[in-house]
Amino acid sequence: MSAQIIAGKKISDMIREEIQRETAELKEKGVVPGLAVVLVGEDPASKVYVGSKEKACQQLGFHSEVHRLEETTSEEQLLALIDQLNNDDQINGILVQLPLPKHINEKAVIDAIHVDKDVDGFHPESVGNLVIGDDSLLPCTPAGCIELIKRSGVDIAGKHAVVIGRSNIVGKPVAMLLLRENATVTICHSRTANMEEIAKQADILVVAIGKAKAIDSKYVKPGAVVIDVGINRLPDGKLCGDVDYEDCLETAGFITPVPGGVGPMTITMLMNNTITAAKRAHK
Ligand code: GUN
Repeated sequence: MSAQIIAGKKISDMIREEIQRETAELKEKGVVPGLAVVLVGEDPASKVYVGSKEKACQQLGFHSEVHRLEETTSEEQLLALIDQLNNDDQINGILVQLPLPKHINEKAVIDAIHVDKDVDGFHPESVGNLVIGDDSLLPCTPAGCIELIKRSGVDIAGKHAVVIGRSNIVGKPVAMLLLRENATVTICHSRTANMEEIAKQADILVVAIGKAKAIDSKYVKPGAVVIDVGINRLPDGKLCGDVDYEDCLETAGFITPVPGGVGPMTITMLMNNTITAAKRAHK
């Protein structure tokens, strides 16, 4: 039997409609969720991402600010802007687009964002809260993965979830979120000795390694839920995931396509974090 395709775009659109409705209700109480995005320099991919975030804000009725700063902006100038945004009541979420130019210390910048406005979920206090299980804003891509699994009707509790990849942005936080959902969690990485054997035990397999089509059906247990976080460009210009989608279609029970799987969820979860932060600020 062929896998059910997890329609990330459709699920993302549904969540955006929910956020749009909630934004309209908040506006009646005089609350407008506000997101500030900061872009330093001219990285082409970052420009595209920032444009998509701005568009999503407009679509949902958020207050949106994009601060486009020169490549030569100093760390001090950037920190001064963050301080200003931290103290701006119109702004509920601050996102500094990464990567930053080499002369700026990324950690110092992330640390400077007030935890209540940390809509990326990258601040050490947000990460600590995630591990402890407190109510922090959740990192967007990992939260999107969980939402896709849940909205596909899959119960996470008691399942064996295997995460391939241990990045701070996806692998580690998605493992923590799966644990919070009461899965039994294993993390595999580049030094794991018997990855195929371990992956094959997974009821839920999340792959975030940044290597095109590295995971094929030999790694997939029949009927497993396969969540592919990778977005890679092939020499012919086409996009593909870290999972060999065609090869896994017959084996997996559920699978996310690339594009159109996890990708559309990231900005939607950013919007969700912004409205959550706005509600908390006006409690
Ligand atoms: N650059 C690529 N992805 C992201 C992200 O999720 N957040 C930020 N701040 N920068 C990014």
